[in-house]
Amino acid sequence: MSRSVIQKSLAGPQYDAWLGYLSGDYSRQGASIKAAPAWAERIYAIENHKVISTALGELTQGLEKLFGVKAKTVTAANQADEQALNAPGVWIGTWSENPFVAQAFSESERAAVQGEGYVIREDEEQGRLWVGAETPQGALYATFHLLRELVLDQGRSSETDPSAKKWSYITEQPRNALRMINQWDNVDGSIERGYAGESIFYENGEFTRDIGRIRDYARLLASTGINAISINNVNVHQRETLFLTERFLSDVARVASEFRDYGIRLFLSANYASPMEIGGLLTADPLDEQVREWWNIQTAKVYAAIPDFGGYLIKADSENRPGPFTYNRDHADGANMLAEALRPFGGLVIWRCFVYNCKQDWRDRSTDRARAAYDHFKPLDGRFADNVILQIKNGPMDFQVREAVSPLFGAMEKTNQVLEFQITQEYTGQQRHLCYLIPQWKVVLDFDTYAKGQGSEVKRIADGSLYNRPHSGFAAVSNIGADACWTGHPLAQANLYGYGRLAWNPELSSEEIADEWVRLTFGHDEEVVGQISGMLLNSLDIYENYTAPLGVGWMVNPDHHYGPNVDGYEYSKWGTYHFADCHGIGVDRTVKSGTGYALQYHRENAERYESVETCPDELLLFFHHVPYTHVLHSGKTVIQHIYDTHFLGAEQAEVLAETWRKLEGKVDPEIFEKVASRQEDQAEHAKEWRDMINTYFYRKSGIEDEQGRTIY
Ligand code: GCU
Repeated sequence: MSRSVIQKSLAGPQYDAWLGYLSGDYSRQGASIKAAPAWAERIYAIENHKVISTALGELTQGLEKLFGVKAKTVTAANQADEQALNAPGVWIGTWSENPFVAQAFSESERAAVQGEGYVIREDEEQGRLWVGAETPQGALYATFHLLRELVLDQGRSSETDPSAKKWSYITEQPRNALRMINQWDNVDGSIERGYAGESIFYENGEFTRDIGRIRDYARLLASTGINAISINNVNVHQRETLFLTERFLSDVARVASEFRDYGIRLFLSANYASPMEIGGLLTADPLDEQVREWWNIQTAKVYAAIPDFGGYLIKADSENRPGPFTYNRDHADGANMLAEALRPFGGLVIWRCFVYNCKQDWRDRSTDRARAAYDHFKPLDGRFADNVILQIKNGPMDFQVREAVSPLFGAMEKTNQVLEFQITQEYTGQQRHLCYLIPQWKVVLDFDTYAKGQGSEVKRIADGSLYNRPHSGFAAVSNIGADACWTGHPLAQANLYGYGRLAWNPELSSEEIADEWVRLTFGHDEEVVGQISGMLLNSLDIYENYTAPLGVGWMVNPDHHYGPNVDGYEYSKWGTYHFADCHGIGVDRTVKSGTGYALQYHRENAERYESVETCPDELLLFFHHVPYTHVLHSGKTVIQHIYDTHFLGAEQAEVLAETWRKLEGKVDPEIFEKVASRQEDQAEHAKEWRDMINTYFYRKSGIEDEQGRTIY
C-alpha cells in the first residue's frame, strides 16, 4: 500500500488522538469556538532549523484545524519580501538565532528557562504573541503547549472562568532531562507485549516503507514532551543485532531523521553478544581488548550514519540474554566498556536493572526475585562511568497492578538512574480492559525513600535532583502499534499521553491529566468529559479489585499473561510465587522470618513493611504470609476482603460498560463501537476473574462468604 492510501484509510479522530484540535464533528459539541486571536493571522519563524520548521508546520496546521484560518507564514526564505515585520503575528524562535524573539523577553525571563524550557507571552494590544526558548526543541514544546491551551480554552467561558486564556503568559521547564519511550518491536513486525496490532516500524524482516506513520508517531510523542526513543525490543534477536551494521544503518538513519525533526533522539537496543554474533570474535568479555576495539569501531560507524545517535539500551544477563556474567565480569564492567565506545560522540549507555534468576525452584524459600536488582546493583554504586544510566523498573518484580516500589531508588547516590514504567498493559488488561495507569505511577513518584531523610521521593531521584546527577529521567515501554487508534483500546491513548506529561512534570495530578486528555480528544461536552474522566480515574482500582489481591501479584496465565490462573506460575521457575495453601497466603519478605527483602529500604520504610501491624493493606501479601483470618486495617479478614473486592470489581466493570453505552451519539461512532465492545469484554472477563479467584480461595480456606453470595 502506498503511503497516501494508508494515511487516507487511517485518517479520522481515533488516528488524530489528542491532536485533532476539535476538528471532528463530535469533538465540537459543547464548545462554541471562540474567534481566533489577532496574532493567529501570521507566523514568523525565520530561523533555519528543522525543528523550528516543524513548530511552524504544527502551529499552522493546529490553528487551521481549530479556527479555520490559514496563517500566513514568514520564514527565512520570504522574510525579505515581507513588509509587515511589525504586523500582528506570532513569533517563534530561539534567543541566539532570532533577535526579535530575544528582545521580547527580559534577561531574567530568558535566564529562567534553559535547554528545552520556554516562555510564551502575549502582547494583546499589539496583537502579538512571542514564543521563545534557548533551543529549537524548547520552541517546539512551547508550540504544542500553546495549541493545547488554545483547545482547552474553548471549553472555558471567559466571563466566568478566571483561568481563561492561560496562554497569555507561560513559562515552563521540564523536570526530567531524559523523557524516553522504549519500543519492544521486532523486525518481523511483531511486538513483544504489544496489544495494538503489528509494529509501525517493521514488516517482514525489513524497516517499513510507511515512514509517514512513524512521523505521525513522532508528532504524538513530541506533543507530550518526549525527547528520546529506542526503536527495537530489548530482547535483541539475531536479525535486529544487525541494526548496528551497514545492512540496516541507512534504514535506522532514515527513521532517526523523522524523529530528529520532532526533537527526539534515537537509541537502539543492542545485543551484548554482538562482537561474537556479528563481529566473528570468540568472546564478548568486556575486558578483552579485541572486544572493546570492536565496539569502538562499530559505534563509530553508527555515528557516521547518525551523528546525533543517542546510544545503546542494554538488557544483559536477564531472561536468558547474554551479558558479562558469562566471563565472570559484573555489570559495571559491561556497561563501562560500551560507555567508552560511546563517549567520544556524547552517547549514553542505558543499562537495565531487570536482572534476576529466572530458573528458580519453588521449594527454595531463600531466593527472592524481588531482592535481585538491589543485590546485583547496589554494590556497584560508584563504579559506573558518567555516561551510563541504570534503568530501573518501578517495582522489584515486573509491572504488576500493585507491587512495592523498587528499593533500588534511594540506594545508589553515585549512579545515574532512570525510572522505567510500562505503558503497554501486559499485566493490566492488555488494552482489552480499561486501566488508566497514571494513578499507579503517581504512587511510585510520590513514594518517599527517606534516602536523605524525609522528602526523598522517587520523583526527585528520577529527576536527578536528590543526588545531583548529570543524567536522569523516565523511560517507558510504549503501548502503540499499527492499529487505527494506535493503542488497541482508544482510551489507552490516555496512558501514552499521560506518561509524556508526567515525564515533563511529575507534579501534575491524575485528574488534571485525565481532564486534559479527554478534552483534547473528545471536546468539551461536560457530560462526555465527566463520564470519561470518571471511567479513567476509577479504572485502576476496579482492575485491582477483581485481579490478584493485596499486592501479591501474578495469578495470570503463563506466557501471554492474560486472564486468571491462580497457580499459573506457582510451581514454575520464574520466582513469582504467592504460596497460598489451606492456612494462608503471601510472601514473607521480612527480616525476622522471611527473605529479608524489607531491609533493602531505608529504616522508615523497612520498619513499616517489616511489621504486619504497620504494613499497608494493599501491600500486605507482598511482604507477609498471613492466615486467611488475619484482620486488615480495614477491619475485614483477608478472605472476606478477597470475596468482597472480587464481587465489587466485577460489578464495577459492568458499570464501566454501562457508563460508556450512555455516550452513544456523543462521541465519534468508530471510537464508540470500539470502546463499547472492549468494555463488554472486560465486564465478562472480570466475572471470570471473580469466579476463579473466589472459588480458589474458598476451596483452599474452607471459609464461607459472610454474605452468602455464589461462589462456585
Ligand atoms: C517482562 C516481559 C518480557 C520482557 C521483560 C523485560 O518480563 O514479560 O516480555 O522482555 O519484562 O522487561 O525485559
